[in-house]
Amino acid sequence: MKSKKTGFTSVSSVSSVVAFFVLLCALVSAQGKTWTIPEGAADEKNPVASTPDALKKGASLYKSHCQSCHGAKGLGDGPEADLKDARRKPANLSVSRTPDGVMFYKIWNGRDEPKMPAFKSQMTKDEVWAIVAYATSSLRVSPPAAAP
Ligand code: HEC
Repeated sequence: MKSKKTGFTSVSSVSSVVAFFVLLCALVSAQGKTWTIPEGAADEKNPVASTPDALKKGASLYKSHCQSCHGAKGLGDGPEADLKDARRKPANLSVSRTPDGVMFYKIWNGRDEPKMPAFKSQMTKDEVWAIVAYATSSLRVSPPAAAP
């Protein structure tokens, strides 16, 4: 297509269209690569108390849904983990200091790259909270440092 329009106006409109697409692509790819954590999640408390029953439930859900990647002790060394590529390695949950509420949403929403499945279509919120209780009280090797 030949356009008679030349000069500053058309050049700048072409470059702003290009800039728009570059920005759009950056936004789209950034979205797939980050977790979706709602504001205030870090302050959310686990509504499921760490009773022996809840921990038992959390442990069995962990075993069937998480262990294949995160490993029996949460070290990130399960059989499905890609250990050759450090960037794709599942998180080591035994040293995680992620607050309960943030952990909940990471499990609930998952992320695309590196791939961590979303569990919101497979579990109830209480089930995910039970896994959070299990991960933070049984897989963590030591409690988080006390707030100053
Ligand atoms: C297909 C493999 C896979 C499965 C299954 C999986 N995860 Fe993950 N998970 C990952 C990967 C990979 C990461 C690291 C993502 C990153 O680096 O940001 C991750 C990260 C996480 C994190 C973030 C770590 C942190 O400290 O904030 C949590 C929490 C987590 N997983 C919990 C779970 C739980 C609980 C389950 C089961 C309900 C589960 N994952 C199932 C692959 C998996």
